[in-house]
Amino acid sequence: MDDEIICNCMEVTRGQIVAAIKEKGCRTLEDIQRETEACTVCGSCEDDIRDILAEYVKD
Ligand code: FES
Repeated sequence: MDDEIICNCMEVTRGQIVAAIKEKGCRTLEDIQRETEACTVCGSCEDDIRDILAEYVKD
């Protein structure tokens, strides 16, 4: 669900990541890191963030 925490280190939710993709135009892991600070500490959430990117970023 949208309030599921994806990045525990920075407490970033799925909803925040999806919003960064849809509303801020994020298309890469680096974009998500810059916009939400998710995946900027331990990196263990990287695969989950890449899965969300794959789901929402369509070329
Ligand atoms: S869980 Fe995202 S950086 Fe640690």
